[in-house]
Amino acid sequence: LLSVSARLEAVLDLLEPCQRLADVGTDHGLIPIAAVQRGIARRAIAADLREAPLRVARQNVARAGMLEHVSLLRADGLRPLCRGAVDAVVMAGVSGRLMTQLCDSAPEVLAGIRQLVLQPNKDVAMVRAWALAHGFHLRDERMVHERGHFFVVCAFAPRPGPDPAYGLSAFDETSLCNVGPLFLRRKDPLARSFCEQECARVRPLVEQGVKALEPELAQWQAACAYMR
Ligand SMILES: C[S@@+](CC[C@H](N)C(=O)[O-])C[C@H]1O[C@@H](n2cnc3c(N)ncnc32)[C@H](O)[C@@H]1O
Repeated sequence: LLSVSARLEAVLDLLEPCQRLADVGTDHGLIPIAAVQRGIARRAIAADLREAPLRVARQNVARAGMLEHVSLLRADGLRPLCRGAVDAVVMAGVSGRLMTQLCDSAPEVLAGIRQLVLQPNKDVAMVRAWALAHGFHLRDERMVHERGHFFVVCAFAPRPGPDPAYGLSAFDETSLCNVGPLFLRRKDPLARSFCEQECARVRPLVEQGVKALEPELAQWQAACAYMR
């Protein structure tokens, strides 16, 4: 079985069994290969905007003997996947801003999926806020620390009504989107380390007089205190 980084392992861990997975921005193709090998997905589409990563993905898929189960697709975002073609979508290693743009440009594809697993490398709050506004509940979230960096993985599922993850009265919605409502609820130790890192990053700037960052510092401090 393919071994993958802790970041990709967390993505796979949050993925629930599905029929057909699309990994958008696949690059090396390791997520769809591992998802099929492990029996999480029956079939998968490894999609990427550029030909060079797709070549690498194709080699990896072939080497893993998965050409029958993992198809390669050169595509910009989700739009080229037609409605109902997939029931699960993963996007990892790109910005949250790009993820929300790609989701916004393919509502018909999103209408047919049962899960959306996202690992934004920045703008995580934007992803949580997008999901909250588009009927995708936060089913689970995971903090990973790898090679000196923190990574967040969020698993969403389309569900009716208000997202129960956000019913945490100690924090407003913006703070919950910034910090992660499930991290707060669980007092997640790794998420607390991330909040401590953010305090250490912002505090010196506030001490130097950057008043605009005072609310952000207060938010990270409140999150640290809550998770202690
Ligand atoms: C940093 S790699 C991440 C690879 C892999 N998902 C991971 O997390 O390890 C980002 C990949 O996204 C692809 N990409 C960027 N914009 C894209 C778009 N609009 N549609 C599809 N793929 C895109 C890039 O070509 C690149 O291969």
